[in-house]
Amino acid sequence: MKRVLILSDPHLLPPGERIVGLDPAARFSEALAFARARQPHVDHLILLGDLTHHGTVAEYEALKALLPTDIPVTMTLGNHDRRDGFATVFEDGAFQNHALAIGGLTILILDTLEEAGPILHAGLICAEREKWLIDQLARAPGPVVVLSHHPFGSVGIGGMDKIALRNGVHIASLFRASGKVQLCVHGHVHRSIVGAWGNLAYAVLPSTCHQAPMQVGETATSESTTEPGGYGLLAIDQGQARLLIDTVTGPPPLVDHDAHSA
Ligand SMILES: [Fe+2]
Repeated sequence: MKRVLILSDPHLLPPGERIVGLDPAARFSEALAFARARQPHVDHLILLGDLTHHGTVAEYEALKALLPTDIPVTMTLGNHDRRDGFATVFEDGAFQNHALAIGGLTILILDTLEEAGPILHAGLICAEREKWLIDQLARAPGPVVVLSHHPFGSVGIGGMDKIALRNGVHIASLFRASGKVQLCVHGHVHRSIVGAWGNLAYAVLPSTCHQAPMQVGETATSESTTEPGGYGLLAIDQGQARLLIDTVTGPPPLVDHDAHSA
């Protein structure tokens, strides 16, 4: 079995700065250490955007210092990122689209950052990125899991639904037409959510840092909570993916000597 750890929305700040009282660097490190203690063998780490809070060089440098060096790391960008800052630190100014072949599955990671769009913080897959996506969907030899920062449709939290992917309905139609996409996994919302757009299943991961309030319907995007961070783990074998979502809290597992099964 292959194990892909997914951490989303770390929102790194320069050392000493905080978001609603939380230190993003400490929360990111805590989430990474917690996940790897729970799951010692990890094949790949994916960071699902909003790597930093303002997209500055100092923030990307703070992130770079915290990345593990013993496993491959793949990153994409979210609405709080800036291409110039990322390119300066990671020496890569291209769209952060990536295709990984793991465990008989193709993982397509899509860059949805739109820096100067008409809706602040909404996302877009532009014509160039859509062309890459169509090509990758055609090339994929089997099942596909799609990862991107922005969800492709409504997740029920009104404030966030206003800043989803602007062309999400069209992009989701490409996935359906391919007949290959098992699951979409997103960040952006800072809360665990599972749902489907028609017959397209999706999950949203919590942030490693601050979370969105547990509210549906009409909501603001300016409120955050300090509840524990979280992360996702894709468990893959024979082209079959499962996404487990965990919260960074609680003691390590204990053995119940009377139990024979859960
Ligand atoms: Fe975020």
